[in-house]
Amino acid sequence: MIEQIPGKVDMDKLVSLCKRRGFIFPSSEIYGGMGACYDYGPLGVELKNNVKKAWWKAAVQERDDMVGLDASILMHPQTWVASGHVEGFADPLVDCKQCRQRWRADHIKDGRCPACGGELTEPRMFNLMFKTFVGPVEDEAALVYLRPETAQGIFVNFQNVLTSTRRKLPFGIAQIGKAFRNEITTGNFIFRMREFEQMEIEYFVKPGSDDEWFKRWVEERFNWYINLGIKKGNLRLRQHAKDELAHYARDCYDIEYLFPIGWSELEGIANRTNFDLKQHAKYSGKDLSYYDEETKEHIIPYVIEPSAGVDRSVLAFLVDAYDEEKDKEGIRVVLRLHPALAPIKIAVLPLSRNQALLPLSNEVYIKLRRCWMAQYDDAQGIGRRYRRQDEIGTPLCVTIDFQSLEDSQVTIRERDTMRQIRVPINELESTLGAKLSGEPFEMLPPGGKKWLGFEE
Ligand code: GAP
Repeated sequence: MIEQIPGKVDMDKLVSLCKRRGFIFPSSEIYGGMGACYDYGPLGVELKNNVKKAWWKAAVQERDDMVGLDASILMHPQTWVASGHVEGFADPLVDCKQCRQRWRADHIKDGRCPACGGELTEPRMFNLMFKTFVGPVEDEAALVYLRPETAQGIFVNFQNVLTSTRRKLPFGIAQIGKAFRNEITTGNFIFRMREFEQMEIEYFVKPGSDDEWFKRWVEERFNWYINLGIKKGNLRLRQHAKDELAHYARDCYDIEYLFPIGWSELEGIANRTNFDLKQHAKYSGKDLSYYDEETKEHIIPYVIEPSAGVDRSVLAFLVDAYDEEKDKEGIRVVLRLHPALAPIKIAVLPLSRNQALLPLSNEVYIKLRRCWMAQYDDAQGIGRRYRRQDEIGTPLCVTIDFQSLEDSQVTIRERDTMRQIRVPINELESTLGAKLSGEPFEMLPPGGKKWLGFEE
């Protein structure tokens, strides 16, 4: 049974909003769905892309010591022997003798089946990597794996990036991409999926400076979520106990988020030492060392790895943004998403469907959508349309009314406080841009004024 955290949005409510408004759908739903696989709908793909964009901006664009990479999902199978995944990327699995359900042994609390209380089998190890075959013959020689993490694509390209970019330590490589795991215990929506996306950094440093860089990255990554609006009280750090560390890690912190299912891992930051580069050098026979010009020595760099899940971040941002407010019509549902993440930045709403408003409304909409994801909505009353935008997290609405035709001014309405200002159309783009970048809403452009507003 899922324990519900008091004060948190109910997971079922969120799942239903995501389906109803086109954020996230169960995969292949018309065939009954595909366990732990989900599809991102029209708004979900925008939100997910915005999460990835915000990560890339912080990880690559705004740093001099980082470069990007996009490696293939299918890799030489030896990669996974060298990395230790063939041997060790397994979970202990138990079966219920009564209802036949399968569970991860380390998720069982009292030794009985969580579904029916039945007796469980002895644990056996189950490798989480998906297998497939390249070419027409399905034999051992053609066996390949769908990557269970994006990290190895970075390690095997270490020398390529080093020589092509002439980087000096410390420097890092960032990658966003799909990963696949044949998870045993699923459920909890997009928290644990069989096909998901990761945003990973492998940051290469001189041995001895790894502890310092580890600390810096833990802080950096924690603040990334805060800067994108996650409430501080919903985020915490947890250091791994020695017996919990992955086979490659010397130290590891999880950034945990208070999901509706309780505190759970959002991102892991590990000190992977020089384990992976050493292993790949050994298995490939290639030199993966770095020549340190200061000491005139060849060294194998240490690696700090901040590894985040795109889907888990999407879930955390949605949970954190979800809010319900009582108002005179009942309940106002608002997704208080950071403007950088909101799928639609601006909604253009003519006050009514009156033909006279159409040309100006259209003109404004076409102008704005060149700069931002914008939506045009003229169906139903203005109050309902504001509510619809609140529910999908649109930070700003622009309303065109009959007076706009006279004075070339329009109204901007803010999602979070429902305040409204009236601004000249020729100040509209710059004002919207400033507000989306965090300028206080009450700051008015030339010719702008506070506005009592339309009926909510
Ligand atoms: N390269 C290190 C690595 O893959 P991990 O802790 O196994 O480490 C990193 O995964 C992140 O990827 C997790 O913190 C989580 O956000 C995400 N992740 C892992 N398994 C996932 C799954 N089955 N579904 C969704 N996200 C997952």
